[in-house]
Amino acid sequence: MGVFSTGGVGIDLGSANLTICLENEGIVLREPSYVLTLREDTDQILAVGRDARQMLGRTPKDVALISPIMDGAVGNVELTTALIQRLADKALGKRRALEKNRLVVSMSQGCTRVEQTALEDAVRTAGARRSAMVRSSVAAALGAGVPIEEPRGSLLVCIGGATTEVTIVSMNGVVAARTLRTGSNGLDEAIMRYIRREKGLIIGQRTAEDLKIDLASAVRSPSLMRTKVTLRGRDAASGKPNTVEITAADVHNAIQPPLETLVENIRDAFENIPPELAEDILPQGLWLSGGGALLEGLSERLGEVLGLRVTIDENPQDDVALGCCMIAASDRLMTRFEQSGCLIEI
Ligand SMILES: Nc1ncnc2c1ncn2[C@@H]1O[C@H](COP(=O)(O)OP(=O)(O)OP(=O)(O)O)[C@@H](O)[C@H]1O
Ligand SMILES: [Mg+2]
Repeated sequence: MGVFSTGGVGIDLGSANLTICLENEGIVLREPSYVLTLREDTDQILAVGRDARQMLGRTPKDVALISPIMDGAVGNVELTTALIQRLADKALGKRRALEKNRLVVSMSQGCTRVEQTALEDAVRTAGARRSAMVRSSVAAALGAGVPIEEPRGSLLVCIGGATTEVTIVSMNGVVAARTLRTGSNGLDEAIMRYIRREKGLIIGQRTAEDLKIDLASAVRSPSLMRTKVTLRGRDAASGKPNTVEITAADVHNAIQPPLETLVENIRDAFENIPPELAEDILPQGLWLSGGGALLEGLSERLGEVLGLRVTIDENPQDDVALGCCMIAASDRLMTRFEQSGCLIEI
């Protein structure tokens, strides 16, 4: 072996987060999918990932904070390439170089031909020894431990930041899929709107996401509802700094409309499953994956609405990167998913 060790690298290129998994090491990096550039010259990259996101809501006039991956697809090839390269370098450190490794990157189920070409360009330019793109739902299924090789349908629901994918997999392929262009970020926006309307306070997106992660619940439990926090923001009427008290019940109420839509959309997708596949799914239930799956009480609520058992692993936000890495590390899996049309070697 040379100076650098070689191996498989899996990257989940999500619209909210980029997650990297290394063969033999597991998940080593997870950072927000943001790039900070000069406004007039987006080739001038000032920061990526967490360092860039810190500037959310506080960028000076000449600086732009860009999320190059929109709705799970590549919106800007150059910036996506830079994001992949810089974060991969950070994750691999001195131990490895990307050009010595095999890279597998996720692509969204609903991505169009044009979006696929954009991703292909970004992945190729990132410069791994060999690279491939795989359907993110298939990678998630592998990472979540869904019996994807079996000749029966298994149902997987992936809730990301911007998208939700409802997929049925069987024999290493996708049998049916529906991509909903709503995800967990919609809950943050609802929290912002609710607090402005009901409490007269303007808060930022980061604060709203923190409230969701710390206080939100998909089900109404009496003990949780008593939790309170004091929020700092700007008074909607006077524009002056102000503080208000928010309870978990407020956050619960705030997220109900988009959550209801999300759950109904998932139910609708489930009800359109052909009867033969539905028969496969009933005894197994469904697998829930993606960062949005971490919402307190969501698996309970989905299980109740759909009448199905829900399986969720401890780190559902890591499933896609983990699955990508498993594929990157295995010739057998590479070939299988290429044959089933879920993987494109670049
Ligand atoms: N503990 C938590 N409770 C509720 N939501 C959470 C929690 N942790 C993360 N999230 C939400 O999960 C979302 C990010 O999930 P994930 O990283 O799977 O998205 P992504 O893969 O980047 O997006 P997409 O798949 O839509 O392109 C964000 O909206 C985030 O706020
Ligand atoms: Mg995702």
